[in-house]
Amino acid sequence: MTALLEVQDLKVAYGKIEAVKGISFSVEAGQVVTLIGTNGAGKTTTLRTLSGLLKPSGGRILFDGKPLNGTPAHKIVALGLAHSPEGRHIFPRLSITENLQLGAFLRKDVEGIQKDIQRAYELFPILGERRKQAAGTLSGGEQQMLAMGRALMSQPKLLMLDEPSMGLSPIMMQKIMATIAELKAQGTTILLVEQNAQAALSLADQGHVMEVGKIVVSGTGSDLLTDESVRKAYLGED
Ligand SMILES: Nc1ncnc2c1ncn2[C@@H]1O[C@H](COP(=O)(O)OP(=O)(O)O)[C@@H](O)[C@H]1O
Ligand SMILES: [Mg+2]
Repeated sequence: MTALLEVQDLKVAYGKIEAVKGISFSVEAGQVVTLIGTNGAGKTTTLRTLSGLLKPSGGRILFDGKPLNGTPAHKIVALGLAHSPEGRHIFPRLSITENLQLGAFLRKDVEGIQKDIQRAYELFPILGERRKQAAGTLSGGEQQMLAMGRALMSQPKLLMLDEPSMGLSPIMMQKIMATIAELKAQGTTILLVEQNAQAALSLADQGHVMEVGKIVVSGTGSDLLTDESVRKAYLGED
């Protein structure tokens, strides 16, 4: 069986500066795979390339058995790859419901969309309670919930989350991580980028540590949690 996502020797450059220098990893259906690493390692660049917002300068991306070679971003969404971006980028003036509807912009099944909006409200009850409010009135953690809910509205085969816990209080961070665990339990396949290595590795089936555009260590989540170099560099131990 081939993996749902197969990344082979991927390279991405901004002009002459190579931000991703030939990385390879895969995501099997049903898995949570995490990319961790310090600021500037190339994690966001990787996700933006997978969703078609940046063009690779080398390597191959296979998604659901198909090569993504210059496939435009909206087609990639249609193929089943959704992206909850770093910084969330919700539409602050639109209501919560409208933000969720936008996540379903490629779908025509009105009833199905309605059902999935209800599902988002079940997953995040606070969004249901405030459904008519402008999204800009939500707290950072609630906006993160909305960004995740919106990404799920395209019924993705693979959900990519870029730094969902960024800037959140410890309690809100725990809530977000618990939701990711719940999505995993429901069978959602997730590629998770996180600065919070401890939380991400605790959830992940597989993890990859990125440093300046390369993957330097790979292993199961529990392997990496006990790996001495990972503990020193990313889990704040000496
Ligand atoms: N739009 C851009 N133009 C030029 N360089 C960029 C741009 N975005 C990111 N970079 C550079 O690419 C490298 C990787 O950045 P990024 O993918 O955002 O890392 P991470 O998400 O791991 O923090 C960094 O050196 C960053 O400065
Ligand atoms: Mg980033």
